[in-house]
Amino acid sequence: MNGAPVLVFDSGVGGLPYLEAIRTLLPFERLEYLADSGHFPYGLKSREEVERIVRLVVGRAVAELRPKLVVVACNTASQAALAALRADHPELPVVGTVPAIKPAAESTKTRVIGVLATAAAVKDPYLDELVARHARGVKVFRKGAQELVAFVEKRLFDATEDERRAVCAEAVAPLVEAGADRLVLACTHFLHVAAGLAEAAGPGVETVDSREGVARRVEFLLREREALAGPGELARGRLRVTRPEPDATMARFAERFGLDCGPTLGAQDS
Ligand code: DGL
Repeated sequence: MNGAPVLVFDSGVGGLPYLEAIRTLLPFERLEYLADSGHFPYGLKSREEVERIVRLVVGRAVAELRPKLVVVACNTASQAALAALRADHPELPVVGTVPAIKPAAESTKTRVIGVLATAAAVKDPYLDELVARHARGVKVFRKGAQELVAFVEKRLFDATEDERRAVCAEAVAPLVEAGADRLVLACTHFLHVAAGLAEAAGPGVETVDSREGVARRVEFLLREREALAGPGELARGRLRVTRPEPDATMARFAERFGLDCGPTLGAQDS
């Protein structure tokens, strides 16, 4: 059981910084990364559609890879499908990604925080609940930044510095104007441009994400089940996609994160 992989899942490349955080904490775990490139982006789909797709794709990945734990390293998928996934796989621990509203609300000095998410996640009732629970007395402004998701997924390596600056500036502008000094990166893709977002927001504004909490949760659940991989050779992870072939950009992401690339996972029908 200990040698079984941990599956890290996202619609695209957003979960990779989460995979890195897990690898830093648990270097001996075998990590399988799955980007659902066949259905990207999730942020422009309805909650029901995301739930259906995630159940289908994760169901196939679980059947094929037999992971000992699944990390849904995607806010949109977690908000839409976490409960259904846990019901589908009662024997399997499933860790979701929750927007880091709590640490942002606890640390803001201006008492204003900004939340950057996908078009779907930004209006999800789940976010309302988190805000009500953890951000009492704090003003919370939200921005759906789907164009930033597309930028990270498709253009991160080829864009000019000016383009990167412009897309980051556009995403943060309304939140900074509202007085936010904490930006919650509530879409995993945005972690790839965290430095650019902080720079665009200016001094005194910090980005907040849930990477470390997710990695610690993975460790806790594996330890509790006595399923941690023992010390040994450092396992090289693998990045797979659900499209027929990983494209050149995907291959570059795999290389950047020290992962092998391919083969494709699961059937191609929707
Ligand atoms: N990375 C995803 C998230 O955290 C979704 C991006 C998308 O597919 O729109 O919400």
